[in-house]
Amino acid sequence: MQQQTETLFIQHFGKEESRSLAYFREKMAGYSALRKALGMSQDDIINEMKRANLRGRGGAGFPAGVKWGFIPKQSAKPKYLVCNADESEPGTFKDRDIMRYIPHLLIEGMVIGGYAIGAKVGYIYIRGEYTREAKLLNQAISEAYDAGLLGKNILGLGHDFDLTVHRGAGAYICGEETALLSSLEGKRGEPRVKPPFPAQAGAFGGPTIVNNVETLAAVPFIINRGGDWFAGLGKLERSGGTRLFGVSGHVKKPGLYEIGAGSATLRQIIYDFAGGILHDKKLKAVIPGGSSAPVLTPEEIDVIADVDTLAKIGTMLGSASIVVVSEEYCVVRLLTRISKFYAHESCGQCTPCREGTRWMTDVLYRIEHGHGREEDLALLLDLSNNIAGRTLCPLGDAAAGPVASFVKKFQADFEAHIRGGKCPSA
Ligand SMILES: Cc1cc2nc3c(=O)[nH]c(=O)nc-3n(C[C@H](O)[C@H](O)[C@H](O)COP(=O)(O)O)c2cc1C
Repeated sequence: MQQQTETLFIQHFGKEESRSLAYFREKMAGYSALRKALGMSQDDIINEMKRANLRGRGGAGFPAGVKWGFIPKQSAKPKYLVCNADESEPGTFKDRDIMRYIPHLLIEGMVIGGYAIGAKVGYIYIRGEYTREAKLLNQAISEAYDAGLLGKNILGLGHDFDLTVHRGAGAYICGEETALLSSLEGKRGEPRVKPPFPAQAGAFGGPTIVNNVETLAAVPFIINRGGDWFAGLGKLERSGGTRLFGVSGHVKKPGLYEIGAGSATLRQIIYDFAGGILHDKKLKAVIPGGSSAPVLTPEEIDVIADVDTLAKIGTMLGSASIVVVSEEYCVVRLLTRISKFYAHESCGQCTPCREGTRWMTDVLYRIEHGHGREEDLALLLDLSNNIAGRTLCPLGDAAAGPVASFVKKFQADFEAHIRGGKCPSA
């Protein structure tokens, strides 16, 4: 078993009582970071965030402190802090437990973030299906208002911050930050052209920071214990803190594991933490960062599971959601299912994504069901190639990457379906 680093979140999951303000204050030094932050300058907070090497936990891994630094100091329009709680990437279930069990940590992180970037209004955009979490967040928010931790003149220290939970309506695309902002404004949830980036013109045209739940929930720890301490929890130079890995699929112990950033390989997470492959079968494939991450073969998993290390081998850490596939499952079927998801969730704005994702799904469906043609694999690669990098937002890449990687790495499985006229394991 891997030696585990200090954990920040996970010890509080699964407890009903951890939701309360009383628990948060008593067991987690709750809102002491806020008091400290309100006595610091905005620049000092942003510098502390930069020192922490906190890479955004939403998927792209952009350094949070650097992002906060992009917010203009002066702005004619109000500034906003928006928490991305859409959590719709298949395989991802980490933000849910933060909101469900330690909602005050997220609230505290947001009030501090609001102060640091000069925003007096914040929104938590939560996926529509998370009804229970939305309710729990609202309860925690009203507790915080009652205790003078939200609203006007917070803690008597002069900062105002109002926080609202906004529920989405079940569209994956609304996790993409600009589509999220459009949806928040009451418009159709479609990605916008960048630039301008949200830090220049975001919600309602004002400078806006969009951060993931786990990113914002790390902020109180950074303020209380310092950016250097947080950076030191990670084992790589550019990646600090701990990471919540969601491991799902064919493992003996699926669930969340909190591990120091960069301190374990994919193999260690799958075998040492998640107990290895279900029924002691052989490993067939690993999707390391949510369904949009290009797939890896068993030979490729001795790699440190972190942002830059996985990017180097052509895939991504994404939301740190590892989907494990055993030899018993058909990879053609899996890819067809993934592809269908992206075709369904494409917002339809960009032609390559709207048409290409459906086309890829149709081709995969016929291969899966034994009606594939010899030329279909080349067609899939061509389609994938014509989507990647040719769309407004990365949903196109998210759909194209899995197709190209599965077809290249598991070519024999696809060929067996085409030549045998059926799934070999059926
Ligand atoms: C199609 C798509 C879906 C996304 N879904 C989410 C999501 O559910 N949650 C999230 O935090 N980020 C999601 N992102 C990433 C966001 O656009 C954005 O990068 C992120 O919220 C920034 O927060 P961070 O810097 O703290 O990671 C998605 C991106 C794309 C392209």
